[in-house]
Amino acid sequence: MLDSVLISPSILSADIARLAEDLDKIASADYIHIDVMDGHFTKNLTFGAGVVAVCKRSTSVPLDVHMMVTNPDDTVDWYIDAGADLITIHVEASTHLHGTIKHIQSRGVKAGVVLNPATPVSFLESIIEDLDAVLLMSVNPGFGGQSYIEGTYAKIRELRAMCERHGVSPYIEVDGGVSRKNVEAVCAAGADMVVAGSAVFGAQDPAAEIGVLRELGNRGLASARA
Ligand code: DX5
Ligand code: ZN
Repeated sequence: MLDSVLISPSILSADIARLAEDLDKIASADYIHIDVMDGHFTKNLTFGAGVVAVCKRSTSVPLDVHMMVTNPDDTVDWYIDAGADLITIHVEASTHLHGTIKHIQSRGVKAGVVLNPATPVSFLESIIEDLDAVLLMSVNPGFGGQSYIEGTYAKIRELRAMCERHGVSPYIEVDGGVSRKNVEAVCAAGADMVVAGSAVFGAQDPAAEIGVLRELGNRGLASARA
């Protein structure tokens, strides 16, 4: 578990017409979360590798690329070439999960696996030792601004226990409906990286909101360690 929580604001809630300005507002973040959706794996259609490359040119904050596409095994290289620093792929979409994770890492990029809300943590038992990150979806993928699914807490705890059993500590990232109302509890359950879209970009002052989320998240991490 990390000493300090990583905050990854999602640009799904940014003003795309003013993306560079919005990226400046979140320069204090630890990662920038980029939701790649293909209109098949999710109903929604969002950003491709071109937008990842634009972000790379516009910010020095590392890029956290969440691939919600049906063919991640075939397309991860586009996002690596565009400048991703961490790529997460869905277990529900990847046919060759282990091979793709190893391929991403062989190109010098961190690699993680994403689980949808209905996918059990036990799916990770055979691959957990190879991962830099596990992303637990706390909403059904597709849209920002949804409500956090309460059953995610139990999955975070189960995943943290699995990591301890295996003696590994990938980032435990939680995505969907995270805000100042629940971030402390999310981190107390064992998450050390959180995505926040509407909570950050819906705030008057996105930078200040990142600070609030970080402080509350760190409080949660402290209680998880106690
Ligand atoms: C949902 C996306 C999320 C989304 C989170 O499919 O994966 O990253 O941007 O948005 P909020 O924080 O508003 O729930
Ligand atoms: Zn996401």
